[in-house]
Amino acid sequence: MEAKLTREQANDLLHKYVKGENYITHSYAVEAIMRGLAKRLAPDDIEYWGICGLLHDLDEETAPWRDDFATHGPVSAQILRDEGFGDPIMENAIMSHNPQCGVNPKTTLEYALIAADPMSGFVKAVAQIYPDKKVASVKHKSVNKRFKEARFAAGANRQYMMEIERTGITWDEFIDIALESMTEIADQIGL
Ligand SMILES: [Fe+2]
Repeated sequence: MEAKLTREQANDLLHKYVKGENYITHSYAVEAIMRGLAKRLAPDDIEYWGICGLLHDLDEETAPWRDDFATHGPVSAQILRDEGFGDPIMENAIMSHNPQCGVNPKTTLEYALIAADPMSGFVKAVAQIYPDKKVASVKHKSVNKRFKEARFAAGANRQYMMEIERTGITWDEFIDIALESMTEIADQIGL
């Protein structure tokens, strides 16, 4: 898949529409996990998958999602079109990470994105309980242990995270890919 925009253009777009530091680092983390997943699932599309991750929350600060959660996703797609980067595959992937907008994940790319989104926040939450708060310190088994504690990082949607298995990647492989991918860019995401 050839992206209509380069990674650099995507990053510029992200910074044009999203100012909050936490949203930016979250976007980078999801990008990293998407790239890690693409190495296994779509080796020719690593950049493209990364960009889908990078831009999945592009409308975080512009869509009126606090009043109507269904706007989260479609507004990002609209921004892409308005900016001249309309791309139905990318727009659909971004919309399907929020099924409440009426689009459900159906493709490998879409299942990867809906799983990578909460996984990034979950891994970050696990890192925060380590003394050094570094993702590099996080052990595979503590991700598994905390996953089973429903009250831990309750906002991270377990059901969405498990959608990874629809891509053929197991839950255990997913943990390793997420830890490895986030560790590679730890400096950029404050972990
Ligand atoms: Fe997100």
